[in-house]
Amino acid sequence: MPPTSAETDNLDFPTLALHLGITIFGTCAWLTGEWAGDYKKLSHPGFSLHKGLGICLALLILARLLYGVWGPEKCRWGHLIPLDLKAWIGSAVEDLQSLLKLEMPDRPRFWGLKGVVQLFGLLVFAWMALSGSLLFTYLEPGRRAHGFLRVIKEMHEIGHTLIPIFLALHLTGVLLDALWGQGKWRRVLFLEK
Ligand code: HEM
Ligand code: HEM
Repeated sequence: MPPTSAETDNLDFPTLALHLGITIFGTCAWLTGEWAGDYKKLSHPGFSLHKGLGICLALLILARLLYGVWGPEKCRWGHLIPLDLKAWIGSAVEDLQSLLKLEMPDRPRFWGLKGVVQLFGLLVFAWMALSGSLLFTYLEPGRRAHGFLRVIKEMHEIGHTLIPIFLALHLTGVLLDALWGQGKWRRVLFLEK
C-alpha cells in the first residue's frame, strides 16, 4: 500500500511533461468543443481544429496511462492508486475535516481528497479521449451522426459539464496549496526545480 503522507511522492520528469501537455491540449480541446458543432456542414473549420487538438490530447492521455503500466515501479498504477477502498474514502473524509479546520492535508497524489479529484479528472479525460477517437475514426463531416455514432457523440458531450467541474475542484486544490501548502504549481509549470 502507498504511504499516506506526500513525502515520497515527488512527480518525476515524464509525469510532469505529460501533465503540462495534457494541461495545454486539455484546455484547448475543452474550449474548442462547442465549435465542433459545425461538423454537419460542408465547411467545418471548428470541427477540424477540435479534431486535431482532441487527437493530440488523446495520444497524451494514452501515454500517461501507459506510463503507469510500463514506467518505473514507483510510478505504476498498482503503487499509486490505493486498493483499500475503505481507507481511501476514510482519507478523503479526514482531508475534508482538516480543510474545515483550515489545515492543509498532506497526501500522495492519488490519496485523500485530492486523489479523488485527480482520479476523477483522469477518468473524465480518458473517456473523452476514447469517445473522441471513435468520432475521429468514424464521423463523416458534412452529414449528421446517426445510430451508435450519435450515442457516442452525445456521451462525448458530457465533457461540457464534467471538465469544468474537475477543473474547478483541481484548481481550488492548487490555489489552497499555493496559499497554505508547498506551492506545487511552480514545479508543475517548470518554474522551479
Ligand atoms: C480528449 C480529447 C477531447 C476532449 C477533451 C474533447 C472535448 C469536447 C467537449 C467539452 C465537447 C462538448 C462541447 C459542447 O457540448 O458544448 C466536445 C464536442 C465534440 N467533440 Fe470533442 N473532445 C476531444 C476529442 C475529440 C476528437 C478526437 C474528436 C474527433 C472528431 C472530437 C469531436 C467532437 C464532436 C463532433 C463534438 C460535438 C459537437 C456538437 O455536436 O456540438 N472530439 N468535445
Ligand atoms: C486539463 C487540465 C488538467 C488535468 C487533466 C490535470 C490532471 C492532473 C493529474 C492526473 C495529476 C496527478 C499527477 C499525475 O499525473 O500522476 C495532477 C497533479 C497536479 N496538477 Fe493538474 N491537471 C490539469 C491542469 C492543471 C493546471 C492548469 C494546474 C495549475 C498549475 C495544475 C496543477 C497541478 C498540481 C500542482 C499537481 C500536483 C498535485 C499534488 O500532487 O499535490 N493542473 N493534475
